[in-house]
Amino acid sequence: MAYETLIVEIEDYVALIRLNRPDALNALNSKMMSELADALGAADRNEKVRCIVLTGSEKAFAAGADIKEMAEQSFVDVFGSDFFTSDSEAMLRVRKPIVAAVAGYALGGGCELAMMCDFIIAADTAKFGQPEINLGVVAGLGGTQRLTRFVGKSKSMDMHLTGRFMDAAEAERCGLVSRVVPAKNLMEEAMKAASKISEKSLLTAMAVKEAVNRSYETTLREGVLFERRLFHALFATEDQKEGMAAFLEKRTPQFRDK
Ligand code: CAA
Repeated sequence: MAYETLIVEIEDYVALIRLNRPDALNALNSKMMSELADALGAADRNEKVRCIVLTGSEKAFAAGADIKEMAEQSFVDVFGSDFFTSDSEAMLRVRKPIVAAVAGYALGGGCELAMMCDFIIAADTAKFGQPEINLGVVAGLGGTQRLTRFVGKSKSMDMHLTGRFMDAAEAERCGLVSRVVPAKNLMEEAMKAASKISEKSLLTAMAVKEAVNRSYETTLREGVLFERRLFHALFATEDQKEGMAAFLEKRTPQFRDK
C-alpha cells in the first residue's frame, strides 16, 4: 500500500518503515500517525515479516508532534478526538519485534515513538529531547513515564524541565539506546540486527517481547512468575525441540514458528 507520509519496504522478512515528511523534519501529524498505525498493523499481520525497523531521515527521526497542526486546537478538539491516542497505541499492540534506527533529531513525540519501539540503535548524530515545556505543554505520548523508566527521575526531570537535547553518547551512557554506531552505518547495523532477529523462532521472539515488557507493568515477583510460565509453556512448541536438538547436533536450527 502506498502512503503519503511513509515509505515501506519489505525484504528478507524485515519491514522497513521510514517516516517521510522531509520538509517538516518528519513532524508527526495525524495523517502520519494513522498511516503508521496502519503500516505497523499490516506488517504485524504479514507472514513475510518477522521483524520491523522504524526509521526517519539522516537529519531527523522525527522532530516531535506537528506544531502547526496542534497550534490552534482547543481542549475540546484534542480531548474530544482523543488526539494521537489510539494511533500511537497501535504501536504497543504490535507483537513482532520493532527496532528503532535513529539519526538526527528524536524530539518530543519523536523521542516517545522511538521509546515505544523494542530497542533503539542510534547514529552518532542522534539528539534526543522532550522540549514540550517550551511550547507550554507536557509530553503527550508517554515521555514523562517512559523516559523516567529508561533514565531515572533526575535525568528525566532535567530533560523535561530544561527541554535540553541529549546527544547519542549520553543516551547510550544512561541506557536510553542499546548502541551507538557511526551515522553512515546506521541502516546497515539496524537491518543486520533485524535480520538476526528474523532468523529466530517468531513465537519465541514474541514471548521475549511480552516478558521484557511485563517488567514495566508489574512487580518483580509477578514478572518472574510470568516469565517462568512462558518458559515452561515454550516446552510445548516444536521450536523448543528443534532449538535444543540443533544445539546438540551442532547444526543451525530450522525454526517453523510452531
Ligand atoms: N512541527 C512542525 N514543523 C516542524 C517541527 C514540528 N515539531 N519541527 C520542525 N518543523 C519544521 C520547521 O517549522 C521548518 O519548516 P519551514 O521550513 O516550513 O519553516 C522545518 O521543519 C525545518 O525546521 P527548522 O528550520 O526549525 O530546522 P533547524 O535545523 O533550524 O532546527 C529543530 C531543528 C531544533 C528540530 C527545530 O525544528 C525544533 O526545535 N523543532 C521543534 C521541536 C519540538 O518542539 N518538538 C516537540 C513537539 S510537541 C510534541 O511532540 C508533543 C508530544 O509529546 C506528542
